[in-house]
Amino acid sequence: MMQTDVDLRTANTLALPGKATRYLKVAATAQLTDPVLATGRRFILGGGSNLVLTGDFDGLILHMAIPGRRLLGEDAEAWYVEAGAGENWHDFVQWTLAQGWPGLENLSLIPGTVGAAPIQNIGAYGLEVSERFHTLTAWNFAHGDFVSFDHEACRFGYRDSLFKQQGWHLNGRLAITSVVFRLPKAWHANLHYGEVSEELATRAIAAPTASDIAAAIIAIRRRKLPDPTITPNAGSFFHNPIVAPEAAAALKQRHPALPCYPQADGRIKLAAGWLIEQANWKGKTLGPVGMYEKQALVLVNHGGANGADVRRTMAAVQAAVREKFAVDLSPEPVFL
Ligand code: EPU
Repeated sequence: MMQTDVDLRTANTLALPGKATRYLKVAATAQLTDPVLATGRRFILGGGSNLVLTGDFDGLILHMAIPGRRLLGEDAEAWYVEAGAGENWHDFVQWTLAQGWPGLENLSLIPGTVGAAPIQNIGAYGLEVSERFHTLTAWNFAHGDFVSFDHEACRFGYRDSLFKQQGWHLNGRLAITSVVFRLPKAWHANLHYGEVSEELATRAIAAPTASDIAAAIIAIRRRKLPDPTITPNAGSFFHNPIVAPEAAAALKQRHPALPCYPQADGRIKLAAGWLIEQANWKGKTLGPVGMYEKQALVLVNHGGANGADVRRTMAAVQAAVREKFAVDLSPEPVFL
C-alpha cells in the first residue's frame, strides 16, 4: 500500500533524516507493473547501505523487498542460483554456502540487498560480484516491460556498472527484480588478499573450505568495520583512486610507504584509507561526522547528523587529501 510522508531515517544505514513524499514497499514483482509508479520522480531503494540522504525526497521511494532464492539449474561446470532483489546479501551468501555451492564466500557480511549488488559491483577481499554474475531481470518503467541483462550488457567496472554510468540508478529508470549467479563447480580458495590468509594462518587452517574463508572474512570485517546498527555508516565512503603509473611513481618517491595496486590496464589503484590516514583524518571528526578510528575510509555518523554535515566532512577530507597528495577522492555512495 502506498504511504505518504514516510521518514527514511531507518531506511539508510547512515541514519540521515529525510522524508519521502510517497513510499511503497515492493514485496512482489507484479506490484511494479502498476502504471501509477511510472510517472514522476522515483528512487529504487535496497538496504540503504550505499546512500547519502541529503534531505527530503519529493518523489516515490520503491523499497525493494522481493524475496526468493532457488537453484535455477546446473550444468557440468556450474550452479546457477537465483535470488530476489530484496534478499539480504549476507544471508543469501551464507545460504549458498550451506547448500554446498561455494563461490561468494569472500563477499560475506557486505551490507545491503541482492538487487543492489550488481549496481555498484560490490567487491571485497579479492572478489567482485561481477565474477559470479550471470544475468539479472529488471522492470523498465518507461517501456512497461521486464528486461534481462547479461554480463556484457552490465558493463561492470571497479565499483561501477551501466546502471551507475548512465545515471539510470539515480533516476529510478529500472527496478532490478532478481539476479542469477553462476557458481563454478571447480572451486578454488581465493586467498589473494593477504589479510585473509593471515587470518586463516592464525586459525591454523592450512586447506580452508569456503565456510572457513567466510568465517575468516566475517571476523576481519567485524574487527575493522563499524556495525551500522551501532555506529551509522555506509561502508567505504570513497573509491580507491586509480591513477596513471607516472603519477603513482611520483607519489611513491615522496611517500615510500604508499600502497599501490597495479590494475590490468596498467594504471595504479591507491588506497584511499591510507591517504586519508596520512592526511590526519583517521578518527577525526567535524561536527557529528567523522572518519572511523579503525578504518579511515569509512565515514561515520556519531549521532544526529544530516546530509549537510556529511557533505561538510566529505569536502574537508577531500581538501586535505588533495592538499597533501594532489589526488582527488570521489565518493562511493549515491547522493539522493
Ligand atoms: N589503510 C590505512 N589506513 C586506514 C585504512 C586503510 O593505511 O585507515 C591501508 C591498509 O593498511 C592497506 C590499504 O590501505 O594497506 C587498503 O586497506 P583495506 O585492506 O582495509 O581495504 P580498502 O582499500 O580500504 C577496500 C574496499 C572495501 C573492502 C576492502 C577489502 C573500496 C572503496 N573499499 O577497502 O569495501 O571491504 O577493500 O577488500 O574499494 C566498501 O566498498 O564499502 C568496502 C568496505
